[in-house]
Order: sequence, then C-alpha cells, then structure tokens
Amino acid sequence: MIVVREMLPEDLESVAFLEKKSFSVPWSREAIADAAESPLDQIWVLMADGKIAGYCDFRIIAGEGELMRIAVEPSLRGRGFGRKLMEVLTETARKKGVEEITLEVRVSNATAVALYKSFGFRIEAVRKRYYTNPVEDAFIMWRRRD
Ligand SMILES: CC(C)(COP(=O)(O)OP(=O)(O)OC[C@H]1O[C@@H](n2cnc3c(N)ncnc32)[C@H](O)[C@@H]1OP(=O)(O)O)[C@@H](O)C(=O)NCCC(=O)NCCS
Repeated sequence: MIVVREMLPEDLESVAFLEKKSFSVPWSREAIADAAESPLDQIWVLMADGKIAGYCDFRIIAGEGELMRIAVEPSLRGRGFGRKLMEVLTETARKKGVEEITLEVRVSNATAVALYKSFGFRIEAVRKRYYTNPVEDAFIMWRRRD
C-alpha cells in the first residue's frame, strides 16, 4: 500500500539515510530537521508497505514554490513513486494558489529532468559549476502559470 503523508520527527533517521543513498552531497540530519521545522517548508514521505520509500521537500517563499529535494529509495525507483510525490507537490501548490515553481537539477540527471518536464517544468537557465562532488552545471527549471 502506498501512502504519502507529512514527515514526522521519528522519520528523521530514515530520511537522512535516504539522503545519503541518493545524493553525493547529502543534507545532514540537522539540515533536514531544520527544514522540517521551518514554516516555509513542507516535507512529505512516501510510505510503501509501511516503510519510507521516498521523500520530498517543497518550500514556498512569497508565494513562489521551490522543489528543494526529492528522492526515492534506490531499489524502489522506476515504480512511479517520484511521480506520486510530484503529484502531491503540484496539487498542494494548486490548492495554495502557488502558480510558479522552480528547481535546480544537475544537467546529467536525465531521469529527474524527464520527470520534471512531464509536470510542465521547462529549462530556463544554466547555472555554471553550481554543484560540487562532482562539479557540474545546474539547469534552472520553472513551471510557470498556465
Ligand atoms: C528522480 C527520482 C526521484 C525519480 O523517482 P522514481 O520513483 O524513480 O520516478 P518514477 O518511477 O515516478 O518515474 C517518473 C518519471 O521519471 C522518468 N524516469 C524514471 N526512470 C527513468 C530512467 N531510468 N530514465 C529516464 N527517465 C526516467 C520518466 O519520465 C518517468 O515517467 P514515466 O514512468 O511516466 O515515463 C529518483 O530517480 C531519485 O531519487 N533520484 C536520486 C535523487 C535525485 O536525483 N533527485 C532529484 C534531484 S534534483
């Protein structure tokens, strides 16, 4: 069974572990805890058969949305879990009247770019050498109002 719900304090260890498995520069436990406590951020976890299989952090600042983080457990990718989290995020944005959403993504991350494009995000700029470990450019993508 698949359920998406808000992250709870007891999810912190699992989310931090998922970060480590998913990113070469992972957020620390403290960074995740800070985001979870911030009034600007909403963090959801996707539960599959009672275990955390994915998570996503969505920030809203001055009416503008930013996808801060999205990750799915490596062994459970390609099953639609990333898409499910994006559906929750875009539906939440719609309900809150957030019409424009931005994100940054490594230019080599074809999977994520394909996922974002399927939700109406478009590449609008390239930020040179934005990422470290390895150094890489970022695409700046936006989902503009219809
Ligand atoms: C990006 C990520 C969250 C996608 O999660 P996922 O659960 O595997 O994605 P889904 O199964 O929902 O697939 C959604 C879409 O992604 C794209 N996609 C998925 N796997 C793909 C692959 N191997 N190659 C190309 N595109 C792929 C497709 O567009 C797919 O839609 P479709 O199945 O309707 O064709 C996951 O790969 C991940 O955690 N990556 C590591 C962390 C990361 O890079 N996060 C993004 C940082 S900006």
